Amino acid sequence: MKIKYFLTGSTLSLALLSAGTLAEITFRNAITGEPLDLSFAKTGGNPDIFKQFKETGSNPYNGDKEAVKKGHDLFMTACSGCHGHEAEGKLGPGLADDYWTYPANETDKGLFEILFGGANGMMGPQYVNLNTDEMLLIMSWIRDIYKGDPKKAKWLKK
Ligand code: HEC
Repeated sequence: MKIKYFLTGSTLSLALLSAGTLAEITFRNAITGEPLDLSFAKTGGNPDIFKQFKETGSNPYNGDKEAVKKGHDLFMTACSGCHGHEAEGKLGPGLADDYWTYPANETDKGLFEILFGGANGMMGPQYVNLNTDEMLLIMSWIRDIYKGDPKKAKWLKK
């Protein structure tokens, strides 16, 4: 009986979520402020996780060990050439400390906006190479290696 009740409960909350009770956040280009057209995203990924992110603005993968590991592998291929293997900074700035050129990176929404839409110069839009799930995985690794002031870790605050 217990199991049955549990199932009913979670089915109900899933139904409520998919009824679209939560509005989606508008993601914007970090430079122009224009809304990002998420339909440009490379196909593939995890629609359920991404939907959750679009509604809450916080990365469901933060703190998830397996996701962090996958994110690390992806970072090595897609980002380390410019940002360094430990994201210590090279051609592009370091991503593990609490100094951000774009302070919006203190939130997952802001970090996603830079990844998806790019910033200046060599920092091009990553939707060309990565699907949105891969972006969230990489973001979880960036949060995991954070060495800055915990007080500035805005993404941890709900
Ligand atoms: C071709 C080189 C290059 C690649 C590849 C690249 N970046 Fe960048 N990145 C840069 C440069 C240069 C900047 C600085 C741009 C600016 O200031 O507008 C930057 C800026 C950033 C910023 C903003 C940092 C801040 O201080 O606000 C983030 C976040 C970032 N990159 C993440 C990534 C991630 C994650 C990847 C891999 C998916 C990646 N970048 C791939 C060159 C690159």
